[in-house]
Order: sequence, then C-alpha cells, then structure tokens
Amino acid sequence: MASKIREALLSSLTAHKDEFVSGQELAYEASCTRTAIWKHIEELRRDGFTIESRRKKGYRLVGRSDLVTENDILLGLETEQLGRNIVFYQTLDSTQKIAHQLAQESAPEGTLVIAEEQKTGRGRMSRQWYSPPGTGIWMSLLLRPELPPQKAPQFTLITSVAIVQAIEEVCGLQVQIKWPNDLLIDGKKITGILTELQADSERIYSLIIGMGMNVNQKQADFPEELHEIATSLALAKGEPVSRAKLVQRVLFHIERYYKMYMDKGFEPIKLLWESYAVTIGKHITARTLHDSISGVALGITDEGVLLLEDKDGVVHPIYSADIEW
Ligand code: BTN
Repeated sequence: MASKIREALLSSLTAHKDEFVSGQELAYEASCTRTAIWKHIEELRRDGFTIESRRKKGYRLVGRSDLVTENDILLGLETEQLGRNIVFYQTLDSTQKIAHQLAQESAPEGTLVIAEEQKTGRGRMSRQWYSPPGTGIWMSLLLRPELPPQKAPQFTLITSVAIVQAIEEVCGLQVQIKWPNDLLIDGKKITGILTELQADSERIYSLIIGMGMNVNQKQADFPEELHEIATSLALAKGEPVSRAKLVQRVLFHIERYYKMYMDKGFEPIKLLWESYAVTIGKHITARTLHDSISGVALGITDEGVLLLEDKDGVVHPIYSADIEW
C-alpha cells in the first residue's frame, strides 16, 4: 500500500516537473490523505530526492541527489557500530590506503573510508580498480575481530553474502557469487572485494574490507576493455540507484552477519554463501600466478578455501586464484 502511494506521488511530481503541485491535488492523485503525502515526501527526501515546498503552492520535485558524504550515509543508517565513524573524500588515491593509516592511528572498529573518486584504486593480485567520480561506491571498512589471521578470508565471504542481500533489497536484483570475491549479474562483474589485514602470526589487529561497487555507470562510462566483463546496477535495473541507501544496507547486513559469525561460527554463513555461489559443482580452472589447475569445484572449507577435485580424484585446496569456466 505504502509503495503504491509513493509511486503515485512520484509520478505526479514528475508529471508536474518544475511546477508546484498542491498537497490536496497530490493526495487526490494518489488516493490518500494529505498527512500520508507529507509522510511520503519526507521519506523521499531521506532517499535523496530534492523536493521544494512552499506555503500555499505545495511541492515541487527539483531532482535527486546521489551523494555519499558522511551526512548522506548517516541519515537513515540502521547500524550500531559499522559506519558510525565516516571519513569522506571527494578524491584520493585509494580508500584502502587511508583505512590502513587510520587503523594504525587507533581508529575505532566500524570506521568507514569512502570516496567519490579513487585515482589509484587497487584490486586483487595488484590489479587496478577503475573508480571514476560520481557513479560507484568505493569504500573500505575497518574491523577489529579478535581472531587469528587464518580466519581473515572468511570475511570476504561474509561481505559477499551481505552485499548480495543489500543489492536484492535495494534494487530487487539477483546477484551471484564467484569465488573468492566477485559478485556478478548476468555473468558480468558488479562488485569486487579486497580483504587486507594488519596482524601477527597469532591475531588480527585490523581487517580492512575494500568494496568496489559499480552502481550508476552507463555502458559508455566503462573503458572499452571492461565492456564484456563489467556492468552496473543501474544498467541491470534500468534506472538509477541511490548509492547512500545501498551503502546503508551493505553496512547493516555486514554488521548482522559479523555478529552472527562471532556468536555461531562460520557454518550458517557458509551455507548462505554456497546458495549464492555459481562456482560450486562446476568444472573450472583456477589460475594462480604460477600455476593452473582444472577440476570440479566441490565447495569451500570452514576457512573459506575452495576445494577443487581434479580428473584423478585428487582434491586441491585453492587459497587464491582467478577462476574461469
Ligand atoms: C577486486 O575485485 O579485485 C577487488 C576490488 C576492490 C576495489 C575496492 S574500491 C574501494 C577499495 N579501495 C581500493 O583501492 N580498492 C578497494
């Protein structure tokens, strides 16, 4: 019911773009009360729509902002700890680099570094991560779990599950996971995750989860070499997506799964992860820097390591690789 009113309200405001429409007329067009209109106007504003209001004239849709500043994220954030300390940059080298520095300067758990643009965004295996301004989500989250460093790869999988759910919720799109850190829609990359840590052999001091999400890029915004392998949520959905809302839901779900993991261990998350994974049960090739092994992906271990059975029945643990099939 609520979303029907919202839809009707948005379509009236859009139809009268650049003109004021009275609350009474909007209420008539949406078949609801003026109080409901007021409530929905407030909600639309929270979702990033700029709606001007004037006494005796009513409301006018000016446009929609899509920013990821501290305020845009904090307004509507439903977490207890994650993202409560936000460090926003218009442009920087890499959010990972700043998050590493902040981790050493005792920044609190849940600190989020986010930027409109990264000049030297980093991907896995020393690759570059294309991070142009205004279209994607480029952010690094600092966690301080009291765990041994062997557990760190599990956080890539926790984050994958959280992002899949946030995308489903905000965009209504189904996402698949390709081990270890790629999220795909229709076989094209929508998100990459880079988990790094500061640790000794016994324990993690800080875990830095870098997330790169392609959100509002148009096809022409991607460089030629990425056309076949990357896409954006807006391209998949057919309309722009609120980046701030997506950041809020990603943080919410990471916090939820992080708590679940600390209380109940990795098993429930592993099951969820496997339900979203495209790799499992497939014949694949795992390419590392020096080697390549082909076989059937059996599943992941409790440490998040991929198990690959070759044609002779030998099971190989794969710690880090590029997967092809
Ligand atoms: C990959 O798929 O290779 C991982 C990509 C991770 C990119 C993100 S964007 C935010 C953060 N800052 C970086 O420099 N890299 C990560």
